[in-house]
Amino acid sequence: MRAISYSRPGGPDVLDLVDRPVPEPGPGEVRVRLAFSGVNPTDWKSRSTADPGSGGKTPNQDGAGTVDAVGAGVEPALVGERVWVWEAAYQRAFGTAAEYTVVPARQAVLLGPDVSFELGAALGIPFLTAHRCLTVAESLPDRLSPGSLTGRTVLVQGGAGAVGNAAIQLARWADATVITTVSSPRKAQLAAAAGAFHVIDYRQQDVVAEIRKIAPHGVDTIVEVSAAVNAGADAQVIGMHGAVAMYADDGGAEVTVPVRLQMGPNARWQFVLVYTEPARAKALAVEDVNAAVLDGAVRVGEDAGLPLHVFPLAETAQAHSAVQDGAVGKVLIDVTQ
Ligand SMILES: NC(=O)c1ccc[n+]([C@@H]2O[C@H](COP(=O)([O-])OP(=O)(O)OC[C@H]3O[C@@H](n4cnc5c(N)ncnc54)[C@H](OP(=O)(O)O)[C@@H]3O)[C@@H](O)[C@H]2O)c1
Repeated sequence: MRAISYSRPGGPDVLDLVDRPVPEPGPGEVRVRLAFSGVNPTDWKSRSTADPGSGGKTPNQDGAGTVDAVGAGVEPALVGERVWVWEAAYQRAFGTAAEYTVVPARQAVLLGPDVSFELGAALGIPFLTAHRCLTVAESLPDRLSPGSLTGRTVLVQGGAGAVGNAAIQLARWADATVITTVSSPRKAQLAAAAGAFHVIDYRQQDVVAEIRKIAPHGVDTIVEVSAAVNAGADAQVIGMHGAVAMYADDGGAEVTVPVRLQMGPNARWQFVLVYTEPARAKALAVEDVNAAVLDGAVRVGEDAGLPLHVFPLAETAQAHSAVQDGAVGKVLIDVTQ
């Protein structure tokens, strides 16, 4: 099969297109013939710094395709099913930048017949992260479903980002009031297309004053991409028993939080890393995200605020560079090209 592989950490130039034997699924695993691989910041970050191990590693966590073989103990009827794949490369050699990958069966989730592979490959990292951020507050349920966030207000910092977009779409599906921040009119248009009711340009407007107008008692959860920059504002708008869910260190590595101010609402400042979230929370996230997809509530493309940028497999290095350079929208690799 054609696969992208790297044998030392480094820049995009360490990624080579190679010819590899098609991997065999072990006990409890499925093999997926991939259609699309999704690229996320985690893919270039781990390629840059983490030892790929002996024998080389194929990058990229997310993907979508068709199950074409199963290992011992896995239901043979899964062969032929369309699936989305999550965390294929986490502590494993077979990421999704290849014609085939092998994953534990629970990491290949059934896509409905009408759901595109492009959408499937856009789900894993962003949507599972967004689910975690939307469910960690003490004041909120640990599941998302239509109506589960009725009467609740969610603030998504950076609503034109991939995780921001996922958070907006999931929160809307759950009937929350969604406020988001962006840095430009173009990004405002995308965040509104994703479904945000209130879009605040943080370069032009007073974020705290605008949020207070919409949510005088504060917001229930904050999906936070840049805690170092936004902590001061977050601390002023977090509501009673709400959470600031910090999933990235964009804009700075350290956070200063005004302790006394946060004691009042019993606020929770919660760190989020999708790979290591509690197993139960991850399992619920997979179920809920899939339910939202099957409900038709999750979309990709310009109309959904998530423009697609598609690269052929041989240009995986360019796809990684595009994400590293801050491409707006979703970067995908068509592994059949
Ligand atoms: N913890 C986890 O498990 C997890 C999971 C997924 C992603 N991540 C991390 O999360 C980050 C974002 O990932 P992504 O895929 O969503 O990237 P992305 O598509 O590039 O989005 C990042 C967004 O953040 C916005 N942003 C940056 N600084 C901001 C600020 N101070 N206020 C409001 N918005 C701000 C950016 O827009 P402007 O700069 O124009 O405002 C951009 O729209 C990356 O660092 C990634 O590694 C972590």
